[in-house]
This record gives sequence, C-alpha cells and structure tokens, in this order.
Amino acid sequence: MQATLRYCVVVMLAATFTGLAVSLNNGLARTPPMGWLAWERFRCDLDCKDDPDNCISEKLFLDMGKRLSEDGWTKLGYDRVNIDDCWPTKQRDAEGRLVADPERFPHGIKWLAEELAKMGVKLGIYEDYGNYTCGGYPGTLGHITTDAQTFASWEVDMLKMDGCYAKVSKMNAAYPEIGIALNKTGRPILYSCSWPDYERVTGTPINYTLVAQYCNIWRNFNDIQDSWQSVYTIIDYYGDPKNYEAFGKIAGPGNWNDPDMLIVGDFSLSFEQSKAQFAFWCLMASPLFMSNDLRAISDEAKTILQNEEVLAINQDPLGVQGYRVSQSGGTEVWCKPLQDKSVAVILWNRSTGGMHRTIAVEFDKVGLPATAHVSVRDLYEHQDKGTFTGFYSTFVNPSGGVVMLKLTVKAGDNAL
Ligand SMILES: *[C@@H]1O[C@H](CO)[C@@H](O)[C@H](O)[C@H]1NC(C)=O
Ligand SMILES: *[C@@H]1O[C@H](CO)[C@@H](O)[C@H](O)[C@H]1NC(C)=O
Ligand SMILES: *[C@@H]1O[C@H](CO)[C@@H](O)[C@H](O)[C@H]1NC(C)=O
Repeated sequence: MQATLRYCVVVMLAATFTGLAVSLNNGLARTPPMGWLAWERFRCDLDCKDDPDNCISEKLFLDMGKRLSEDGWTKLGYDRVNIDDCWPTKQRDAEGRLVADPERFPHGIKWLAEELAKMGVKLGIYEDYGNYTCGGYPGTLGHITTDAQTFASWEVDMLKMDGCYAKVSKMNAAYPEIGIALNKTGRPILYSCSWPDYERVTGTPINYTLVAQYCNIWRNFNDIQDSWQSVYTIIDYYGDPKNYEAFGKIAGPGNWNDPDMLIVGDFSLSFEQSKAQFAFWCLMASPLFMSNDLRAISDEAKTILQNEEVLAINQDPLGVQGYRVSQSGGTEVWCKPLQDKSVAVILWNRSTGGMHRTIAVEFDKVGLPATAHVSVRDLYEHQDKGTFTGFYSTFVNPSGGVVMLKLTVKAGDNAL
C-alpha cells in the first residue's frame, strides 16, 4: 500500500531539464530506436550445416531485414537489424582489422549493410570493450580506432559495445574513448553501451550523467531470458523509485535506458504477458528491439508489436520515461506524461489468484486535476471508454495482465 513518488508532471519537468543538460547529440535516437536484434532468440548458433535457418549468418539477417520491410514493420519504425556476438573470425587480419566469418558471412558485412539498405533497413553490429567478446571472439581493447573505422567503412549504423573480459574500473574512460572514436569517423553510429550494467554487477558506482554524455542507449540490468519472471524482474528494477531517481529521469531525446530485447513472439509469455511486456517497454520509453523469429511469428504477437496506439506512447517526442505511481497487493499503476499533455497509464495485475481485479487510476496521482473531465481511451481495445472525473477503474486480467490507457483532459477544461 505504498503511494509513492510525485505527480507525473513534476517528474516530467525534472526529466526534461536533465535530458537537455547532458544529452549526447549525434542526432540519433531522438525517440527510442526500434528494430530487431539476434541475441535472445538466436544466441551463438554456429551450426549452419544442420541448422542453416537459425545460425548466425548473413542469411539470418537478410531474412529478418526482408520480413521487416515486407511485413509492415519498417513503416512503423522498426528499421534496424542488429548482429550480436559470434560474427567474426577468432583472429584479426594482418592489419589488425576484424574479419567477418567467411563461411557464415561470405559476402562480408559491407555487402550485408548495402543489401539491407536497399530494403530500408539499417545494420547494427556488436563488439566488446575487453580482450574478448563474451563468446570468446576478438575484443576491441587495443584496437579502438581501427574498429571504429572498420565499422564506419562497412556502413554500419549502430554498435552495441559489451563488457566481458574487461576491467570494469577502466570503463569510465574506455566507453567515452570508443564514443569519441565513433564520432571521429564522421559516420553517425548509434552507440549502445553495456557499461552501467557491468558496474552494477561489480558494485562499482555508476555515473549516469557521464554515461548519457557518450551513449545513446545503455543497459542497466540483467540480460533478458525467455521467461515471464525475467520480464517482471526487469520491470521491478525500473519501477524501484531509487532507480528512477538514479537513471530513469535521465532518459530523453538522444539518451535511453535499455531494459533489453522484446521477447514477444517467443516461447514463454502468455497473451496477457506479451501485451504487458510491450506496454511496459513502450511506457518506459525503451528501445524496442525484438528478438524473435519474424519468419514464423504468430498473428497474435504481430498484432501486439504493431499496435500503433501503443507505439505512439513509446515514440512520444517529449521522451519521458514512465514510472510506477503506486503498488498495492499485487496490482500496480504506472504513468508516462506525453507531449500533448495527456498521460499514458498502465494498470497491472500481477496476482495469480486466477481472477481479474478491479484497478483504479486516480487522476490527481498521475498529474491531472482531480476535478477535470478526462477522456479515457483503451489502447489495446482501440476504444474510447467515455469521460470521467476523479478516477477511472476497470477489470484487469491476472497473472501479469495489463490495461493500457491514454487520459486526456477534455478541451475547454482549462485544467493544465
Ligand atoms: C587483457 O590482455 C592483456 C594482455 O594479455 C592482459 O595484460 C590484461 O590483463 C587483460 N585484461 C583483462 C581484463 O583480462
Ligand atoms: C560528433 O560530435 C559533435 C559534437 O557533439 C556533433 O555535433 C556531431 O554531430 C558528432 N558527429 C558524429 C558523426 O557523430
Ligand atoms: C559524473 O560525470 C559528470 C560528467 O562528466 C561529472 O561532472 C561529475 O563530476 C561526475 N560525478 C561523479 C560523482 O564523479
């Protein structure tokens, strides 16, 4: 029964100010980036002989690019395909450059980037700041400038920089150094940093102001796994008010906290839980990188991930990260203030008692005047629910179910 934090609007002002003060400005990620990333679903599958459709190879990334462009994803903003670990050879070439595995990427990365560009899809790649990547491939330590130049010459548009086999105490120097090397290539490359997560794991103090000066997006917490428990553990971490204070408020155009990939369309989540992961990632202004098989995705999962009303909450230009307003006996209310002065809300029922619960959002708790006439729209039902004063309440399904709403003060009700 903790009513927590302040009103949405107060947090909004603070967040906007901090964002402007520290934001990396390479012109990228003005709204959370969207696309597809290999890791959670395809890991380090090297078996192209017996598993040719799923191994880490140019075919996988071309297949996903094709699906993005032909199945309506790119026009919604899902315009990136990202390679993760296990793409290079174990040795650099004679000039010290990284080389894509010639059997799995016979045409090389530049060719892949060009083929994807023809489909309207940008290519992202992966490296690691240390001696090795997590999978044991060559790391970027000692080769920072060469690697940045290599990626730029391959026309790569995003770089995820991991932190295995590295000294965490050096990260506050190394990640900025890599960011500067990327900047010097002259090619805008979206920079994704695992830096704060490695600091968290080792108990090293995290300076998010510094992180936001050099990275467009950054990981704060555990790698996502294909389970509901993994999803709600991440949501709990983001919902913790002291974490919102430490990093949630820093999010804004150019800078986003990254709770890791969307697993909607994979094996573990129920329909209600799939709607919940997508709703929370959108409300938390998170990067939206799906890690699923777009060649075989269910219509149900696709409908969730292509919900334009929910996507608009994620892509709202104000760029405020939403946060938890209250929690009580297995139910929670979260909100995110929007550019047009309306507020997105999630009502969440985590209880496992098998029945729906009634959950209410009190308008004054999410920054709207208690006396205003507020129109309520349900973003999954695509339905206007009417005009309400004071609060709105509705049934929410159990075991992780959400109702996602947009609340707008009626015109002429000069409350805000
Ligand atoms: C990386 O390799 C160098 C050279 O072998 C070694 O001195 C250094 O300790 C290694 N760093 C880490 C973090 O393992
Ligand atoms: C490099 O940094 C400067 C200063 O922040 C910025 O104006 C420029 O757009 C950046 N260039 C690239 C390619 O990232
Ligand atoms: C965090 O980084 C910022 C930006 O570089 C710097 O001004 C500030 O002093 C740092 N804070 C701490 C506690 O080191």
